[in-house]
Order: sequence, then C-alpha cells, then structure tokens
Amino acid sequence: MSTLALTGIGELSTHAPELGVLHDAALVVEAGRVAWVGPSRQAPAADTAYDLGGRAVVPGFVDSHSHLMFAGDRAEEFAARMTGTPYSAGGIRTTVAATRAASDEQLAANLARLVDEMRRQGTTTVEVKSGYGLTVADEARALAIARHVTDETTFLGAHVVPPEHADDPAAYVDLVTGPMLEACAPHARWVDVFCERGAFDEDQARTILQAGAAKGLRGRLHANQLGHGPGVRLACELGLVAVDHCTYLSDEDVSALRETGTTATLLPGVEFSTRSPYPDARRLLDAGVHVAIASDCNPGSCYTSSIPLCIALAVREMGMSPAEALAAATTGGARALGRSDIGHLGVGARADLAVLDAPSYLHLAYRPGVPLVAQTWVAGRRA
Ligand code: NIG
Ligand code: FE
Repeated sequence: MSTLALTGIGELSTHAPELGVLHDAALVVEAGRVAWVGPSRQAPAADTAYDLGGRAVVPGFVDSHSHLMFAGDRAEEFAARMTGTPYSAGGIRTTVAATRAASDEQLAANLARLVDEMRRQGTTTVEVKSGYGLTVADEARALAIARHVTDETTFLGAHVVPPEHADDPAAYVDLVTGPMLEACAPHARWVDVFCERGAFDEDQARTILQAGAAKGLRGRLHANQLGHGPGVRLACELGLVAVDHCTYLSDEDVSALRETGTTATLLPGVEFSTRSPYPDARRLLDAGVHVAIASDCNPGSCYTSSIPLCIALAVREMGMSPAEALAAATTGGARALGRSDIGHLGVGARADLAVLDAPSYLHLAYRPGVPLVAQTWVAGRRA
C-alpha cells in the first residue's frame, strides 16, 4: 500500500483531542486514512510527498443538513422577503411543483452542481434530504439519486403536507409511514420531520419517527425554527442523535439537550437569508450542549452551500469563538451524523481535509466571503 505525505502545513487543526492545533506539521495518508500526523521534522518517510507551502489545513467540513434534491429556485421569494414579506413554510410547495416536473437527469445534474460547489468550499461529507417530491415515486427517486453522491441520505416525506392532501393531513401521515417509507427506506439512512406550526405536530412527528425506526432509519428532526414548540423535547425524549434549527429554546429545552447529549445543529444561513433572529450558540455551549453548524442549503430558506459563510456568521452573530465554530462544522457535524471516522484528522480518520489559502483557520471567520479554500481532499485524494 503506497503512502502520501502532505508536508509544509503551516497550521494543522486536527480536532483530535490529543493533538489540537499543530504548527509546521505533516500528515501521512495510507489507504485513504490518516496514518500519521505530527511535526514535520518527525515525519516518517512516504512514497510520495506533496508540499502545501505553509498553508493552513482543517478537517473537511461535515455538512449534516442540506436539501439538495430539488429543481428550480425561489429568488423572487427571497427578494420579496428582503422587502418585508415574512418567511413561511408554504414556499416549499413551489419547489415541490418544480421538482415533480423535473426529469431524473435534471435532478441529478442540479445535485452534482451543488455538491461540486460544496467541495470547492471545503465540504467533504454532506447529508442530503428528500422532501420536495412528496409522492411515493418522487421521494423514492430523490433518495435513489442522492445515494449516488452520499451515504448520508434522509427521508423527509414529512416536509409539508402536499396540496393534494391538504384537506386530510392524517391520510398523508398514513402514506408517509406506509407505502412511502417502504419505498424510501432502502435508499435512506435517516428519517426526518419538519415539526413546526404549518408543517407536522408533535404526535405526527413521533408517529413518523417511530415508523422510520421500525424500518431501520435513525431519526433527526427540524424543530423550534420559527417559534417555540415541542420538537426539541421530542427529539431528546426519543434519544435522537441531532435536532436541527433550535432557534427558539426554553430553559427546559436546553436542559434536555444537555442531559440526553442530542446535538443541536444550528443553521445560521437560514437566519441570515430569512432575516430572522439568530440562535444563541453561546447559551448552548455554556450549558454543555453539543453544537453543530450546517448549511441547510435549500432553494427557500437558505440557498448557500458555504460552510465558511456559516462559520463566519456563527462567530459574528451567535457568540461562538472561531475555534468553536470550526469544531461545530467538523467534529460537531460528524457527531450529528453519528460518525467518528470524519470531522477530525487524528490517526485512523478518513483523510478528508481543506487546504486554506491562509496562514490560520482564524481567517475563515476573519475574511468572510473570501474564497479561502484552495484545495479539498477526500479520502486522501484531491477532489
Ligand atoms: O430547513 N424548515 C424546513 N425546511 C427547510 C426550508 C425549505 C424551504 O423553504 O424550501 C429548512 O429551512
Ligand atoms: Fe432543513
């Protein structure tokens, strides 16, 4: 098995507990994994060496929440929002109509374009949800297509009740937990529900998550995005690995998150793009809650694919330090996906990393909007 040494790393943020941040470092890759990491002068010989010229290296970002299976866009809705129209979940139906009308090839091409956009910004793992098909066939094809680009696929048939079921939401929940789940489970690792006023309530969410669990899908939840509600407590009660948005939290919600170890995934691009109050990350971190940040890339509430932007927003608007924000986008995202093989650069991790055109990871927040990711490596290969 041949080995590759990445040398000349000016600053290496390993996010491995025993290693921390190293200076003048090297990293040796074997079979797609980190085989050695440490100071350059101690690096073992390798078959090939690649000099990174003093740049900073961080673990590849783990984007644990995105909705990339869609067609069309909602730029007009965004423009209206910026001149005063509030965000509502109802806009999802516009994208549902466009997505149903698209061919498999169009959906796959849009997905590939967005995943490529993410790669160029340092994302090496992305979770992808369905949720803009909302028929058995449209949800199943979305997940089958997504499966070609990631193992982290999520069945979100319970995104909103589609128009044809508007007068009988209970029948739609029966469809989601019955034939739709049956068709989608083979292509998905996760099941998710948008638990919010205007989407699905607590009982419906519990029913759908339990049905998914019976088919082997692990649960995650959209909760407490637009207002206070039962979603975060439900996620904790069910022992979910992550609950996402968490913009409006009571003290009881924060205690439940701490006690159960459920990761709160914050999505600051959504608050930016809907001009809404940001979640208070500081409150969560000070309480000892595990925090992740992710893009939530979707055509409605947040059409950014950029984790560096989310890091900058988390630092500027949510009370996180640059180190905490980077951790939330790497180890935090990995934890939110139940993964220990990604999100850090300790020995044994998958060699997923972003090389920055900067001397330090601090520049991710310090230089917002600047394309700092010079190279992205996935499993030890330049992507
Ligand atoms: O995570 N909250 C529900 N789903 C998406 C929004 C989807 C849309 O507006 O199209 C979200 O913000
Ligand atoms: Fe979302």
